[in-house]
Amino acid sequence: MVDLRDKAVVITGGARGLGAAAARAVVDGGGRVLITDVLEAEGAATAAALGGAARFLRHDVTSEDDWTAALEYAAAEFGRLDGLVNNAGIATGRFLEHESVEHFRRVVEVNLVGTFIGIKAAVPLLRANGGGSIVNISSAAGLTGLALTAGYGASKWGVRGLSKIGAVELAESRIRVNSVHPGMTLTPMTAPVGIRAGEGNYPGTPLGRVGAPEEIAAAVAFLLSDSAAYMTGAELAVDGGWTAGLTVQHLAADARLTERRGVR
Ligand SMILES: NC(=O)c1ccc[n+]([C@@H]2O[C@H](COP(=O)([O-])OP(=O)(O)OC[C@H]3O[C@@H](n4cnc5c(N)ncnc54)[C@H](O)[C@@H]3O)[C@@H](O)[C@H]2O)c1
Repeated sequence: MVDLRDKAVVITGGARGLGAAAARAVVDGGGRVLITDVLEAEGAATAAALGGAARFLRHDVTSEDDWTAALEYAAAEFGRLDGLVNNAGIATGRFLEHESVEHFRRVVEVNLVGTFIGIKAAVPLLRANGGGSIVNISSAAGLTGLALTAGYGASKWGVRGLSKIGAVELAESRIRVNSVHPGMTLTPMTAPVGIRAGEGNYPGTPLGRVGAPEEIAAAVAFLLSDSAAYMTGAELAVDGGWTAGLTVQHLAADARLTERRGVR
């Protein structure tokens, strides 16, 4: 377990999924957490289940006013801020040519602009604290060109780039900024695509399975902690090897396809 004693952390989109698991990891590590989300009932229930070290506030990451209110609340409740996890996000599943401009803009607004406003809003508090850690949740789709993710992938590449800019600009304030790149992980966001937990259920990934939210949360907690004191500007893939390269299964599938097409 990672040592997060005395740390106060804000996690956006923490009502469920990866954000809720990250909130659990912070509390398990001895820290305090403000979960924010647009899902009020789920967010309040998640915070209540974590006990006295957790709070919930409704917060839309696309709103500058909401960011001001969330950080004021964190400062009032905890008296300090050590970490911010920009986790709130929405997904897409359309071919680029079928993606509407309106939907593309919306995805970028939540995933990328929301992260940008969050970093900007949190810096004064983190600086006043003598430094801290910002963890931005990107995606495997922010490391590679993944089909069906036009708006989503573009926003996650943006989050990855923004993290590096934050890292180089904020290092002198002792604020570290890193991005985490989860692979396919079973959460309410991905459940509708029909993935299942368990060994062998996701053979395209070298480790052969989808991830569990707790496995992503462990990486987030590490980056929030002082154990990661020399890490900034890093992109941490937590994806079962998904972005590492092609598996033998992929090569075999390609060979079968080539044979069927009579190419060779
Ligand atoms: N699950 C995966 O396989 C996977 C893989 C890579 C990256 N991610 C990223 O991890 C993060 C968490 O995803 P998840 O899988 O837990 O999904 P999820 O849908 O379970 O959780 C996302 C949360 O963000 C909240 N949210 C959405 N729009 C918001 C807004 N405008 N303001 C505040 N909160 C908002 C949602 O209400 C939800 O509670 C996302 O950024 C997602 O892109 C997930």
